Amino acid sequence: MAVKGTIVVFFVIASATLLFVSPPPSADAHPLAFCHFDQIYQLGDSISDAGNLIRESPLGAFLPFARAPYGQTLLTHEATGRCSDGLLMIDYIALASGLPLVNPIKDAKASFMHGANFAVAGATALSSATLDRHKIRNPVTNSSLDVQLEWMKDHFYEFCGSQRHCETKLRNALFMVGEIGGNDYNYAFFSNKRKVEILDFVPQVVASIKKAVERVISFGARRIVVPGNFPIGCLPVYLTGFNTDNPDDYDENHCLKGLNSFATLHNSLLKRAISELQKENPQVTIAYGDYYGAFQHLLQIAKSRGFELQRACCGGGGEYNFNQTRMCGYPGATACPDPYRYVSWDGIHMTQEAYHIMVDWLLADFLWKLHCHR
Ligand SMILES: *[C@@H]1O[C@H](CO)[C@@H](O)[C@H](O)[C@H]1NC(C)=O
Ligand SMILES: *[C@@H]1O[C@H](CO)[C@@H](O)[C@H](O)[C@H]1NC(C)=O
Repeated sequence: MAVKGTIVVFFVIASATLLFVSPPPSADAHPLAFCHFDQIYQLGDSISDAGNLIRESPLGAFLPFARAPYGQTLLTHEATGRCSDGLLMIDYIALASGLPLVNPIKDAKASFMHGANFAVAGATALSSATLDRHKIRNPVTNSSLDVQLEWMKDHFYEFCGSQRHCETKLRNALFMVGEIGGNDYNYAFFSNKRKVEILDFVPQVVASIKKAVERVISFGARRIVVPGNFPIGCLPVYLTGFNTDNPDDYDENHCLKGLNSFATLHNSLLKRAISELQKENPQVTIAYGDYYGAFQHLLQIAKSRGFELQRACCGGGGEYNFNQTRMCGYPGATACPDPYRYVSWDGIHMTQEAYHIMVDWLLADFLWKLHCHR
């Protein structure tokens, strides 16, 4: 199956701060208050993009994430460029820290007092030039990790004034390096690459993420979370594209085992890279963000609450309500009225409720790994 690149794109919120007025930090309402983050910086793709792609792309206003039903669960019902019905994990992480939502860097009018979001839907860990050499095309954006890091460098040049000032100013900042890399694999899997070729690709993707962590450390980052990949064999886009008649190909959650093992391989190499980075940079705290584990937890909660586990809320029909020719946001697709009962929003991205449940699970992990104490 050759899924068009557009499926891997996503969207934003106009001015996130209008949606939420944060009360003063308190540890009860804000579990991450013990970490005393005063800023959050995010690099990544559609899992975290809060409005960069729809602003960056000349066709931004025509992207599905720029229109309903994307954003239908937000108080404003506004399509902000976020690839979901509502908020994303990074939004819940900001709220749990007692901070306002982190604004997309491409929003020229936004405030970046409390950090900035550099994530771009569709972005890859490897540069477009590197993907070209593997004959993989990113049809969505060229704003890969290295490009986002250049934006970050330029932003800090203005924000800090000098390297020395940056070290002081960023002392209490949280850096999220990812999730990123998921699209490198998405584009490879859906361009009919052979499995061995894609496996060869994993160390390169991980090396690129490792380099990004070194770069943010050079900017002055002290606390960094590097999230891994989700169990992609559970996502409607993969369940549809790699559908098989062999029951042995599926695990007890009806997820594709081979694809979940692939995600696990990426995550193992990433964890190894993180422990190397930690050894080389003892002055910095670098934590693995266990998005795979968070998703497994989500499945358990979703089962106990009777959620729809595998059919997408918004789509154009089929076994998993995912059809590449009638994707969410395009003619022929409709959205369910109750996305809070679904794990998957559009077949690729999760619902606000799913993201919220995963962050609730991740908070304890973050508190511990980032050494946040009372
Ligand atoms: C990425 O860059 C290449 C080369 O400059 C260009 O041809 C292509 O249209 C760009 N892709 C996107 C999605 O902007
Ligand atoms: C997707 O929709 C087209 C019609 O637009 C249909 O021909 C095709 O069978 C559908 N594919 C799946 C997987 O449901």
